[in-house]
Amino acid sequence: MAIRTLDALELAGKRVFIRVDFNVPLDEHGGVADDQRIRAALPTIQHAVRARARVILASHLGRPKGREEKYTLEPAGERLSALLQQDVILADDCVGDGVRKLVKELQEGQVLLLENLRFHPEEEKNDEAFAKELAGLCDVWVNDAFGTAHRAHASTAGMARFVREKAAGFLIQKEVEYLGRALASPKRPFVALLGGAKVSDKIKVIENLLAKADAVCIGGAMAYTFLEAQGVPVGRSRVEKDKVELARALLEKARARQVDFLLPVDHVCGAEPKETAKREVTPGREIPEGLMGLDIGPKTLDAYRQRVLAAGTVFWNGPMGLFEQKPWAEGTLGIARAMAESPATTVVGGGDSAAAVEEAGLVPKMTHVSTGGGASLEFIEGRVLPGIQVLEG
Ligand code: 3PG
Repeated sequence: MAIRTLDALELAGKRVFIRVDFNVPLDEHGGVADDQRIRAALPTIQHAVRARARVILASHLGRPKGREEKYTLEPAGERLSALLQQDVILADDCVGDGVRKLVKELQEGQVLLLENLRFHPEEEKNDEAFAKELAGLCDVWVNDAFGTAHRAHASTAGMARFVREKAAGFLIQKEVEYLGRALASPKRPFVALLGGAKVSDKIKVIENLLAKADAVCIGGAMAYTFLEAQGVPVGRSRVEKDKVELARALLEKARARQVDFLLPVDHVCGAEPKETAKREVTPGREIPEGLMGLDIGPKTLDAYRQRVLAAGTVFWNGPMGLFEQKPWAEGTLGIARAMAESPATTVVGGGDSAAAVEEAGLVPKMTHVSTGGGASLEFIEGRVLPGIQVLEG
């Protein structure tokens, strides 16, 4: 069913409630550490401002238990104000008389940011009265919170039933375009790179990609579970013992579908997952007793890199190693660089891989970097996201 987009609506003078995902990491001083999600929401916000809407923004931040000041949206509001180069009025709540008064006084082209929606447990419970109260603040509801589209909460899904007009923002539109259409009919060869700690987190994603990709390259700790399934010694590496059978079945499926399923052929190891551990590179697939794999090795990086450079489409989700610690970051950063160099359509799933691309300063070199962590994974798994489903019709 068709989803209405923002540009199809007349917004002038209307109270336009935009659900954004400003759930951004904060630094030790409480400032915004990474503003990718705020910047990604700008096209929608700027469109509404230019259209002379009265703009109401709402988001969650973190997982507070009731009102916890450290989860205030104030730092996000300040960053937004700097990016928009205009004042952003910050409400001290998201519902109640004070908020209604602020909305009433809001002028065309002004921006009001409501306080963290999750200061009210009703948000996550998708409470009907709370959803109605939020809906009462606006004439138009725009969902642009792709990162939270997998949650059926009051502001991401519940409100849809009580608003007069609804639409998808430009970010949701772009995410659906790249994670959906671009991967459904990819330019070939289609290469998927999957990393992360656990096979169990990625089973559905792997299964879905095995039906579409020409090659799947595995990195991160989940590679050791696959190697164990092939009978390769992996030393003290992290292995999900109860998923070895499943890994074997996935390897079999890849063979049956004639998908190239690439596992690391060498590793960067340490005695423990610490920055101070001595860095050792194995000559081959086997990891000696007493060592654990913490990153893909140089030969593996080179093999994956060649695939990326020769691809028509690349999708990447999940780090290749323990990239938060410098000695084990080379594989992940190397993949980011290869994608930046590749002429392919390059799509980065959100979360850690998006953080690595940001850290490497390579975001502008990618076709699309998703703002969704869990949401982009669920989308790639082929699941229906509630925040998108309610926009239909
Ligand atoms: C995210 O960061 O994945 C989204 O903002 C959703 O946050 P949540 O996992 O706390 O619901």
